[in-house]
Amino acid sequence: MTSHTDLIAALPKAELHLHIEGSFEPEQMMELAERNKIALPFKTLEEAKAAYDFDNLQEFLDLYYAGMAVLQTEQDFYNLTSAYLHRVTQDNVRHVEMFFDPQAHMERGVPFGVVADGILKALSDGEKELGITSKLIMSFLRHLPEDDGFALLEESTPWHDRFVGVGLDSSEMGHPPAKFAKLFQRCREMGFKLCMHAGEEGPPAYIREALFDIAVDRVDHGNRSMEDPALIDHLRDSQMTLTNCPLSNLSLCVIDRIEDSPVKRMLDAGLHVTVNSDDPAYFGGYMNQNFEAVADALNLNRNEIIRLAKNSFEGSFLTDAEKAAHLAAIDATTAT
Ligand code: HPA
Ligand code: ZN
Repeated sequence: MTSHTDLIAALPKAELHLHIEGSFEPEQMMELAERNKIALPFKTLEEAKAAYDFDNLQEFLDLYYAGMAVLQTEQDFYNLTSAYLHRVTQDNVRHVEMFFDPQAHMERGVPFGVVADGILKALSDGEKELGITSKLIMSFLRHLPEDDGFALLEESTPWHDRFVGVGLDSSEMGHPPAKFAKLFQRCREMGFKLCMHAGEEGPPAYIREALFDIAVDRVDHGNRSMEDPALIDHLRDSQMTLTNCPLSNLSLCVIDRIEDSPVKRMLDAGLHVTVNSDDPAYFGGYMNQNFEAVADALNLNRNEIIRLAKNSFEGSFLTDAEKAAHLAAIDATTAT
């Protein structure tokens, strides 16, 4: 609890950086492991939670890919997605733009359609039953070759009208945005929005590539832009949305202490920063816990917290009219 707990709870929010496979809670994971007769690297909940102690991105990714191996059927992907939507409805998340990692499932023999249809059905039911809207972003795994990304793009063709955009995630170091310049160029021509993880571990040069070589619509994380004053100026002038993830940053040792989160420095520099959960089941918190962590550690004031909520809708891929409706709802919530 912080002095801003009630405000954070009351604010409508959009989540713009969420990997659905990273919302896989160990309880549900163990249940599906049992149902699908697949072994996990841990036997008890305590063992699972003890394993969630990471020194860097790669240590997390190794466990993330091992955990998602128990997802086999359309029903599994439905249950995973549905659980996330129910959970964040409690946090007053009204809209989510969700990444999924099809290559991590297809290399285990799970067909693309099983993954996508399970997620899409849950998103559709979530909108009907919970009133939460959503968009899906297909992510390419950057540790794999660009040609594999082209193959995924081809195989996913029948579903293209159900994705708003594409993303780039997994191991950042050694896999710069420019490795995927042709693939992202093709995706842009096809009408997809472009997102890339950049500057989580990778240097400011990776953020520059994402901006200037790829022309991304959003930068995921973007932490290390704060090392490059000219880049900060560009991000301010362009009002590029950065999807920061405070508890993820802490968990993956991108920052040593939550007080080192760049969210306040980004706000002070006039950057269009948002707060998100990334992989909430692994990093110890959903949306409101991420808001609370930075509000508390960085002494954010009421206006800064409201600004973060507004940025989440402004930075979304909703239409201008939809954005305006959400922004008006925030004003109605915060009118004194
Ligand atoms: N970074 C890179 N790849 C990822 C992440 C992340 O935080 N979460 C899931 N895939
Ligand atoms: Zn991420």
